[in-house]
Amino acid sequence: MKITIRLVVSLVLVVTLVAGAFAYYQVRDERARLRSGLERRSAILAGILQEAVIPLVASDSSEGLDLLVRRYGDRGMSQGIAVHDAGGRLLASTADIDPQIAGSVPQVAQVLTEGRPAGGFLRTGNGRIYRYVSPLLHEEKTVGVLTLFQDASHIDARLEEIWRHNLIRLLILSVLVAAITLIVVRWSITGPIAQMAGWIKELRTGKTKAVKPVVSPTADAALDPLISEVSRMAKSLVIARAKADKASILNVHAESLWTADRLKDHMRAELGGKKLYLVSNREPYLHEKDGPGIRCIVPAGGLVTALDPVMRVCDGLWIAHGSGDADRETVDGGNKLRVPPGEPAYTLKRVWLTRDEEDGYYYGFANEGLWPLCHITHNRPVFRLEDWTHYRKVNEKFADALLTEIAGEESPLVLVQDYHLALLPSLIKEKRPDAKVAIFWHIPWPNPEAYGICPWHQEILQGMLGADIIGFHIQFHCNNFLETVDRFLESKIDWERFSVSRGAHSTLIKPFPISVGVGEHRETGSSDDHPAKEDLLRKLGVHAEFLGVGVDRIDYTKGIPERFRAIERFFEKYPGFLERFTFVELGAPSRTHIKKYRDLMVEIEEMVEKVNWRFRTKTWRPIVFLKAHHTHEAIEPFYKASDLCMVTSLHDGMNLVAKEYVAARDDDDGVLILSQFAGASRELKDAVIVNPYDIEQMADAIGLSLRMEPDERSGRMRRMRANVREYNIYRWAAKLIAELARLRLTDGTSRPAAAS
Ligand code: G6P
Repeated sequence: MKITIRLVVSLVLVVTLVAGAFAYYQVRDERARLRSGLERRSAILAGILQEAVIPLVASDSSEGLDLLVRRYGDRGMSQGIAVHDAGGRLLASTADIDPQIAGSVPQVAQVLTEGRPAGGFLRTGNGRIYRYVSPLLHEEKTVGVLTLFQDASHIDARLEEIWRHNLIRLLILSVLVAAITLIVVRWSITGPIAQMAGWIKELRTGKTKAVKPVVSPTADAALDPLISEVSRMAKSLVIARAKADKASILNVHAESLWTADRLKDHMRAELGGKKLYLVSNREPYLHEKDGPGIRCIVPAGGLVTALDPVMRVCDGLWIAHGSGDADRETVDGGNKLRVPPGEPAYTLKRVWLTRDEEDGYYYGFANEGLWPLCHITHNRPVFRLEDWTHYRKVNEKFADALLTEIAGEESPLVLVQDYHLALLPSLIKEKRPDAKVAIFWHIPWPNPEAYGICPWHQEILQGMLGADIIGFHIQFHCNNFLETVDRFLESKIDWERFSVSRGAHSTLIKPFPISVGVGEHRETGSSDDHPAKEDLLRKLGVHAEFLGVGVDRIDYTKGIPERFRAIERFFEKYPGFLERFTFVELGAPSRTHIKKYRDLMVEIEEMVEKVNWRFRTKTWRPIVFLKAHHTHEAIEPFYKASDLCMVTSLHDGMNLVAKEYVAARDDDDGVLILSQFAGASRELKDAVIVNPYDIEQMADAIGLSLRMEPDERSGRMRRMRANVREYNIYRWAAKLIAELARLRLTDGTSRPAAAS
């Protein structure tokens, strides 16, 4: 039985019992009251009649009696009277009394004997009658009895009426009780339960993801524990379903989607317990003196951004230049330390350089020679013999540091990074022909004419070709490299396999487009963790509707002055955006020991000042230039809150800022304006692609991005995110390391394995 029916039946039953009991007592009291009234009236009437009847009975005047009785009956004072003599014989009675009743009054004998009046009820065909029998006393003798008959049917009528009224009252009460019960139960229990059932059904069928039911406020508090338990269960269900969805997506993409865990398993299989050795100039964690303490910073730049997640997974050894002024204080006797601080996952070994070595090798040959040589930015490279000498010496220093480490290991896997260490592959191979060596070139490779101006162009090529694999970001740079080798070195080039053979040694030249690690938090991050744009801007003292962001090392290859010129032109062309759009540049000073970089900094600051001076108001500036080393945590909110991000490199191997911006946008919003001269433009085709030298086009690109329809914005971002998710850093590492590990080396030479 339904709870409502059960409740209604019980309540009606109780109400009936209570009302019945009250009605019963009311009837009982009323009956007693009416009866005593009747008795009292009968006694008075009998007393009056006796005075007339007694003399007639005593004198035995039957005629007189008849006359009296008849008169009495005519007056209609009561139902009737009867008179008996002392022997109990009926002397006279009114006509309307049934003679039988009048003759046989049971109390007559009793009253004659006891000499006291008596009364009682009698039911006749016409209803109830009350008899009052009183003795007729004459000279202290009972000479007969007078019986008075009174109509008592009003008593029944009254009692009936009481019962009827109580019954009607009971019916109305029962209907009200039932109705109120139904309403209360519906409001407080069944309604909210039905709402909850509907929500659970929607949850089960995936129509909603709300983890709390919307229950009417009239719901009974007794349901609270149930609601909270069910909500908890719903939350688990939503999480479990999200995990299952993710797992199924992973299954669908099993062939293509790489994660940190998958790379870990893959590395175990590929390396078979061997260590991975990585060598670069820049170290992933740098210690600097900070007042009385020491702080650890992660240097800006794509190399560290890309390779730190890989090394965290592979737990290998990373050898790099210890360039922090507190670096020596944080290593052990072997110049090593476990990093990252707080969650050690791999070993960093620091190589120390003298001031002269750093000047000549890093600032001089690498960054004043090779850097502008490889980037076509119309900055003349500078080549000095002393720089070249330092460059060679430092490469040997790095080679020695590595050779010590791999001394006991058979066929170690070595990944050399970038243009600072071009000679390292052949230096390693000379001593350890069994080592499997790859060099990854993070910057562009120019055409043979441009490259040919380097006085040591052959030595550099020979150094690199000591590697078994040379990796670039894009095929175009591979082609440039092969053409360069073709032009300057005696060698056999296989254009089908993209390999270079010199003597018994072959080198595979392949593109490995580098990327970022798309972390778990980015995949599941809810839009809740998106910081408010207004808050970010308010902290910078600016009030604006739209936010643009740029994140760069301050380097002349990044096209920062061009970007600011474009912003100035944008405000000229689209004045409607004045006081509505602010561009925040997070610029990390870099290589400031080199004059060109110092000059660039001055140029940028002057430009910011000029543009701001022209357009600024009390509460608004067009450009906010934040010149500092910014952590990833500090940059992320700007990525997430901005309407657009500008990457305007004049020439760039890949540019990971573009990919980091896309990876951060888990809300599928934001527009990426990307230079056609950055390697990333080959993959992120849904960016707004620009020529950074074309100021008009860039100004229009800003206007287009700010006015782009939300659907188009999210469609573009979704496609770019799918690309970055699939071609992530774990895939990059897996492909490069697998290629290297599977190489077959024979007699100290290597042959590329069949394409895998
Ligand atoms: C580029 C280079 C990296 C370098 C980074 C930062 O991305 O390819 O090798 O680490 O810039 O430059 P820095 O001179 O500070 O190492």
